[in-house]
Amino acid sequence: MRVGCPKEIKNHEYRVGLTPGAVREYVAHGHEVIVETRAGAGIGADDNAYKAAGAKIAQSAEEVFTRSDMIVKVKEPQASEWVQLREDQILYTYLHLAPDPEQTKGLVGAGVTAVAYETVTDDNGALPLLAPMSEVAGRLAIQAGATALQKANGGRGILLGGVPGVLPAKVSIIGGGVVGLNAAKMAAGLGADVTILDRSLPRLRQLDDIFAGRVRTRFSTIEALEEEAFASDMVVGAVLIPGAAAPKLVTREMLSGMKAGAVIVDVAIDQGGCFETSKPTTHSEPTYDVDGVIHYCVANMPGAVPITSAHALNNATLYHGLKLADHGLKAIAEDRHLRAGLNVHRGRITNRAVAEALGYEMIEPQAALKAA
Ligand SMILES: NC(=O)c1ccc[n+]([C@@H]2O[C@H](COP(=O)([O-])OP(=O)(O)OC[C@H]3O[C@@H](n4cnc5c(N)ncnc54)[C@H](O)[C@@H]3O)[C@@H](O)[C@H]2O)c1
Repeated sequence: MRVGCPKEIKNHEYRVGLTPGAVREYVAHGHEVIVETRAGAGIGADDNAYKAAGAKIAQSAEEVFTRSDMIVKVKEPQASEWVQLREDQILYTYLHLAPDPEQTKGLVGAGVTAVAYETVTDDNGALPLLAPMSEVAGRLAIQAGATALQKANGGRGILLGGVPGVLPAKVSIIGGGVVGLNAAKMAAGLGADVTILDRSLPRLRQLDDIFAGRVRTRFSTIEALEEEAFASDMVVGAVLIPGAAAPKLVTREMLSGMKAGAVIVDVAIDQGGCFETSKPTTHSEPTYDVDGVIHYCVANMPGAVPITSAHALNNATLYHGLKLADHGLKAIAEDRHLRAGLNVHRGRITNRAVAEALGYEMIEPQAALKAA
């Protein structure tokens, strides 16, 4: 198969769909890989690195789209990209179609077979192509929060780990999933006094085993949230109710009980945020102050560290990507996890949530593949 990787064109997107390491794997499987010139510039991989991995360098995105049977990207295609997609092509990337009627219309019109990273499943019912970005965001949350806690940045002026003879900072993490676990590892690693709150007792048991006493766990009730928020120097929001907006767990009223200069890092902001006072911010202006509490609410946190994020993403996408390249549509027909990833095929919507959100008729992936 001819596998193409265009340079990302979304504002401030520095990741790349294929790293040179991933290109080498596709080439080893006998595929031809076409990479747009400077596609890897944001992660420090130049055209020579791609050539050394066996890729052919295209001088334009148009050349990549025209020559490829399969397109591997990071972000959802932009308008100038979806008009270049064709019925005989597979698109493999993050799509997030449900809130995006325009893009959905574009992909339906193009007739392309679109597999969305965010809906590919695994045997545990998890979303393995989404998890690496949660790992990055969870780890970054503590770095970002620690910076915001510095006095010159508006924070309380407390060092997470303290020093011998001086108590460490107190960090509460609401939600002990992938983001929460990774945030806790970083915070505990820096020596902070860490508590994780979650609604799931089985998850709290798991976390208790993982940290073996180094991190405290607490069942998430209004009372527990209030006590932890009031006592903390940093509160990380990391809850997720799949498919739903994040619940507002810390209210504006509760903010007044928090320490002056405490920091909120609302990682769940991409789902609306779990603090009532959260609103999305960007990497160029990541924080703002409400009632003396510093809020960090960047909606695309992994974008700050594209080298780590691109490699983490490629690690997660490679297995299914190779399957798609090796077997084409047959791979989707035979693999239920790839079928869960199929969102659009030959003008039909094959994902229930997308169809319901946007008023399309849904067709089961198997039926869509057979019909075409
Ligand atoms: N801002 C960013 O750049 C960025 C990057 C990656 C992920 N995220 C977001 O971070 C959030 C967390 O993602 P994740 O991968 O860790 O999800 P996850 O499903 O692994 O974990 C979510 C956890 O929240 C818990 N939870 C649900 N309701 C709760 C409540 N009322 N109180 C306490 N805990 C509760 C669940 O039991 C679960 O353990 C999501 O909204 C995700 O979209 C944001």
